[in-house]
Amino acid sequence: MPDLVIVAGGSGQHASVVYEAAVLAGHHVAGYATVEPGSPATLLDCPPLGPLDACPVEGMRFVVACGSNTQRRAISDSLAARGAEFAAVIHPAAVVSPSATIAPGAMVLAGAILGPRARIEAGAIVNHAAVVDHDCVVEAFANICPGVRLAGCVQVREDAFVGLSASVIQGLEIGHGAVVGAGAVVIRDVAAGATVVGIPARDVAAP
Ligand SMILES: CC(C)(COP(=O)(O)OP(=O)(O)OC[C@H]1O[C@@H](n2cnc3c(N)ncnc32)[C@H](O)[C@@H]1OP(=O)(O)O)[C@@H](O)C(=O)NCCC(=O)NCCS
Repeated sequence: MPDLVIVAGGSGQHASVVYEAAVLAGHHVAGYATVEPGSPATLLDCPPLGPLDACPVEGMRFVVACGSNTQRRAISDSLAARGAEFAAVIHPAAVVSPSATIAPGAMVLAGAILGPRARIEAGAIVNHAAVVDHDCVVEAFANICPGVRLAGCVQVREDAFVGLSASVIQGLEIGHGAVVGAGAVVIRDVAAGATVVGIPARDVAAP
């Protein structure tokens, strides 16, 4: 298996989580590469590789461990343009249905549960203890925060953000780039680009 490089963004906090998950999952982690803006120079005990732009891509697979959907996508796009390949990181304490699919570059972290036929696309995050039930789709570069509960057949579109401990009832669509606030209970579709909060979740822009 080729080596795996952990790439930090922002504060490096999400990268710490992904790095430790990768080690526990048995990946050979070649090192940690920094990205701008904001990466710390080092990440736990991961060997520092310096700036990502200076890292060769041949013989490596990458996981872009930035919490920001926008930054994660931008860095992944620039790596893909250089011919890079990506690795999925699946923490060994995640419970993953045999019929679920997880694309390269996705992260499924400790305590997460993926039900039958759940699909996690490239660059998506399913964070600690999140439940993504049967037939859900988490599209590319979406972010499912810790403790979220998606009932069956929910579709989370690209770049959407579902905040800490939010719940979404079955069959709904969380639109492209939408934001669901922490603790929300979503009982209607969320439009692309909208931000909803509360119980039941309502658009923050609505009167
Ligand atoms: C929804 C969210 C993105 C809004 O952030 P924001 O645009 O900065 O909004 P503000 O803090 O200015 O709040 C706007 C209004 O919405 C309310 N609000 C914000 N977040 C809320 C939430 N999660 N639940 C209920 N109400 C909320 C605020 O009280 C405020 O109401 P007011 O105008 O009556 O005072 C943010 O509050 C949130 O919930 N983020 C999720 C964070 C998270 O899950 N992090 C996990 C990282 S792994």
